[in-house]
Amino acid sequence: MDAISVIRAKRDGHPLSDGQIDWVVDAYTRGDVADEQMSALAMAILLNGMSRAEIARWTAAMIASGERMDFSPLSRPTADKHSTGGVGDKITLPLAPLVAACGAAVPQLSGRGLGHTGGTLDKLESIAGWRASLSTPEMLGILESGGAVICAAGESLAPADKKLYALRDVTGTVESIPLIASSIMSKKIAEGTGSLVLDVKVGSGAFMKNLEDARELAATMVGLGTDHGVRTVALLTDMSTPLGLTAGNALEVRESLHVLAGGGPKDVVDLTLALAREMLDAAGLPDADPAKALADGSAMDHWRRMISAQGGDPDAPLPLAREQHMIPAPASGTLTRLDAYAVGVAAWRLGAGRARKEDPVQAGAGIELHAKPGEEITEGQPLLTLHTDTPERFDYALAALTDAYDIGALTTAPPPVILDRIA
Ligand code: URA
Repeated sequence: MDAISVIRAKRDGHPLSDGQIDWVVDAYTRGDVADEQMSALAMAILLNGMSRAEIARWTAAMIASGERMDFSPLSRPTADKHSTGGVGDKITLPLAPLVAACGAAVPQLSGRGLGHTGGTLDKLESIAGWRASLSTPEMLGILESGGAVICAAGESLAPADKKLYALRDVTGTVESIPLIASSIMSKKIAEGTGSLVLDVKVGSGAFMKNLEDARELAATMVGLGTDHGVRTVALLTDMSTPLGLTAGNALEVRESLHVLAGGGPKDVVDLTLALAREMLDAAGLPDADPAKALADGSAMDHWRRMISAQGGDPDAPLPLAREQHMIPAPASGTLTRLDAYAVGVAAWRLGAGRARKEDPVQAGAGIELHAKPGEEITEGQPLLTLHTDTPERFDYALAALTDAYDIGALTTAPPPVILDRIA
């Protein structure tokens, strides 16, 4: 077998055979297929697509490139959630301890932010002392005693995807349904969770810009999970505007704490509860009541336990950026649009995100929203507040926000947070 014949086959629109897929994924992981060859193949896949059978085989080959985790020693059923990524998407933070408070074990292997979307590990690292790296025995111990862990995936989990995702990121080949579905599901299946709820984001701040593509991605991932014995369900959720009222690391932790304390913005609370109910159902705990666990403080107790178990101080003050810049509303009326992508890019430029994997992030940087689409605002009232330690970045962030919002008369109601469900 050789890489050029595999690339030519996909370039010319032919399906790849099982043998070609197994060979190319394995040879790329071992370094026998070069990055430039794999990027040509990824582009051919992006342009010509893959059948369900090819996607299933590609996913299986990526799982086989590394080790599989085993949560069967745990006494609780496991439930996991994966979001395809968005702006202000802090849901994992309140959700993991909430579902643990209801009796499931939540092994949440998470990532760092890249580009305009934030990463759960960056958010949690704004808590003094908290560490993302855990050994497998440590992770199992915390899951058994506290029920929730949010940590970095180990090097041995789907290493083919680690290499390929980094390559896709710099070759314009991220936005391919077969490649996204196999990337996400290879990691989730290798992780060994018994059930999985997918939060597939739709809108300007997401990979999937329209409902049709999001439905196809969701159905592909649900099919892959189900075929591998993982009870999988997907919610399609709105990402045309940021989730909640904050985008940025420590700002999002603070908002998550409001949710765990029984408050917080309605869209964040509604989505957290909807995903919690799906996770508990899929884990075989349909009678658990997540709304009660938020109200009675047990979700907050699990948060404190989870943060402490990973070296963090749940009482430490969260970092604040050194400088703030308020943007006033330029007119009175209804806020009819506040664009997720523009807010994500601006938060990134303020220092909340990174351009390259090795870049540091600022814990306090980001954007606070003072209104959501559909709300009435008055000229001069605060609309957005920008936060950064490096005020020379304000102009750069403001440039991203020049066409980010509209104020006028509301003609159509803003979309609901949950757009569809695919099981
Ligand atoms: N998240 C992943 O893990 N992989 C993708 O391809 C896209 C989003």
